[in-house]
This record gives sequence, structure tokens and C-alpha cells, in this order.
Amino acid sequence: MADKPTKGLADVVAASTALSDIDGKAGRLFYRGYDIHDLAGRTTFEETAHLLQRGSLPTSGQLAAYDEELSQGRALGALVEANIPEIAERGAPMEALRTLVSLAGAESPDKDSNSAEANLRKAARLTAQQPILVARYHAARSGRTVADPDPELSVAANFLLQITGQVPDPRAVEILDACLVLHADHTMNASTFAARVCAATLSDMHSAIVAAIGTLKGPLHGGANEQVMRTLQGIAPDKVASVVREKLANGEKIMGFGHRVYKTEDPRATHLRKMSQELAESGGDDTFFRMSREMEEVVLAEKGLYPNVDFYAATVYHYLGIPTDLFTPVFSVSRMSGWTAHVIEQHADNRLIRPDSEYIGERDQKWKPIDER
Ligand code: ACO
Repeated sequence: MADKPTKGLADVVAASTALSDIDGKAGRLFYRGYDIHDLAGRTTFEETAHLLQRGSLPTSGQLAAYDEELSQGRALGALVEANIPEIAERGAPMEALRTLVSLAGAESPDKDSNSAEANLRKAARLTAQQPILVARYHAARSGRTVADPDPELSVAANFLLQITGQVPDPRAVEILDACLVLHADHTMNASTFAARVCAATLSDMHSAIVAAIGTLKGPLHGGANEQVMRTLQGIAPDKVASVVREKLANGEKIMGFGHRVYKTEDPRATHLRKMSQELAESGGDDTFFRMSREMEEVVLAEKGLYPNVDFYAATVYHYLGIPTDLFTPVFSVSRMSGWTAHVIEQHADNRLIRPDSEYIGERDQKWKPIDER
């Protein structure tokens, strides 16, 4: 008979990985042994994606080659192109992305191979295309065209340019770039686990990423950043403490707080709080930042819970001019680098992921024909 299950698989080690590591008690996060505090603001998203997918921080020559691969990989296939308008008209952003990535899988030049070489190419293409898919989706639903990505610009700069339609401020690019670095990987989070379960059947990378996108979408995972912003927008600035206390008294969860692994401050939140403050002050209206600070104090005092990555990411994206319903898609732009690296890792040393379950249903039922039930 199986052991008693741990609800939500808490503390169950489901895979071995060399990609990221969390010290939940100390509030530390590492990508391939590098402390996130050393990477954020000093290493670009492209370098971080190279670190995760290809195993090392790139030399300048390796980075130039990877940038070129990303640049070439941005071109969308005919099937994806043809379907963007209708998908943008009918689907919410994460639904649209899930479908567009699935279509991209159907026309991937490497669709029939899970080889290490094909997986590296697919990982770069998926990473290159995700921000383009978000921008093209947003342009299509807004009835405007979008400029082609500029091969001279970074992922972060191209994304801001395509989403806002304006040449972005260099500091805004640095901040979005740091956000992408901070969200790139996070051990066995729900969407990464979903991707690995799919990949472990020896299904292909696009199928695993579709599973991951569908999993990130939920408000208990990546969907929380959008909910944080909607909560802030729905509260009068002078009523933060009373509304939060009332929600807690009613047993409601406050989005953007709590974490399965961190028992102290999430190290990503430390950076995001600073960036949110900087943007709030430079933009001349710090209302949402001040409300966030107050919310943070009340939730800590009442529940002993700290903000997670989604809490201050919400106001950072808001101040950067990103529409609220694109916050979770921005998360996916970054996490694509980690998801794909996990699929590469899973395929390189694979075993089917198939846990057991505890049966709690009826036993010894007597079958009767349909007219006697
Ligand atoms: N607000 C209020 N109470 C909370 C919150 C919250 N945000 N988070 C946890 N709690 C409480 C629960 O109600 C529960 O209380 P109880 O023991 O009295 O019933 C206790 O803390 C434990 O909570 P669980 O949900 O069991 O903790 P779990 O480890 O399963 O969940 C999770 C972690 C999903 C992140 C949870 O904290 C949560 O729902 N937070 C809000 C959603 C959110 O911000 N998600 C993003 C997480 S980061 C990421 O995925 C990128």
C-alpha cells in the first residue's frame, strides 16, 4: 500500500536539477550556483537564458552567437501569423499564448526530434518568440500594427518598444531586463513541474511548454501578479489596512503574499520593491507603491506572510506602462528560459514521472445491470 500523500506534494523532491536552488529559510535563490543578488541588475536576460539553457554565463563571443540565434528565431511561422487575429479577438492573453505556442510546435522545423541539438534550437526559438507573441497578440486586439523587432535591441527593449509603441527610456529597459532575470527559473514550481511531467513521457518541448503556460495562468501561481494590481486598483488609497484586515477576517487570500518554500522574504521581492519605489518616485505618483507598502505591513503583522515575486512585480509592470492583463504573459516571457532548460535537462536524463495515489473511494461494490440501479 502507498504511503499517505503529502497534500500538494509539499516537501516532496520530484526531480534532480542543476538549474536553480532555493534556501527557503535564508531567503536565497541561485541559478546554477550564482546568487540571484549577483545576477539581477548586472547580468542581462539573454546571458541568464544562456546560463540556464547552455550551462554557463556566456563569453562575449558566445553571447553574440546566442543573440544572433534569438534574432533569427523571432520570425513567426505562417500558421501562427495567420491565426493571431482571430485568437486575439477571442482569447484572453494566457489562453492565446497557450494556443499560439501549440501552433508554433506544429510548424517547428525540429518538431520530430527531441535530440539535444534540436532541443537547444527549440529553446532559443521559444525564448525569442514568446515576447513577440505577446506583442503581436496585444497589437492585434488593439487594432494596430507593430514594428518589427530591432536586431540591435535586447529582448527587454524590443518588448517595451512593441508593447508601448514608443522608444523606451534606457532605465525602463534596465528595470524590465532585471525583472526578466528575476523570474527566469525557480526550482520545482507548478508550471515547471507540469513541463517536466510532460517532457518525461518523451513528448516534445512545445507540448511541455503548452502545459507550463496553462499552469502558470492560474491565480495561485503566475496569475497572481495581475490579481495584485486589480486589488490595488479596487481599494481607496486610505482604506488599505481596513480592507486587507476585512479580507483576512473573511478567510480570503491576499494575492502576492505567501510562498510554499520561502519562510522569510523572497529575495526577488527585495529587488522588485526597490524598482517599484524608483519608478513610483520618478513617475511623480507613488500612490500604488505606498498602498503596497501598507498592504505588506498589514499582511506581515496579521498573518506573518511576506510578499512573493508577484507582489511588487505588479506595480513595476504598471509603472512601465504594461497593460494589467499582460503581467502574467510577461512572466511567461522570462520563465520560458527556465521551462525550456528544464525540458532539456529532463530529456537528457529521463525517467517517466508517475507518482502513486492513495485510494479513498468505495470498495467491494456489487455490479447491477442498468435497469436495476
Ligand atoms: N493570504 C492570506 N492567507 C494566506 C495566504 C495569502 N496570500 N497564503 C497563505 N495563506 C494562509 C492560508 O490561508 C493557510 O492558512 P490556514 O493554515 O489557517 O488555513 C496558510 O497560510 C497556508 O497556506 P496554503 O495555501 O496551504 O500554503 P501553500 O504552501 O499551499 O500555498 C501559495 C502557497 C499558493 C503561494 C499561497 O501562499 C497563496 O495562495 N498565495 C496567494 C497567491 C499568490 O500570491 N501566488 C503566487 C505565488 S508565487 C508564484 O507562484 C510565482
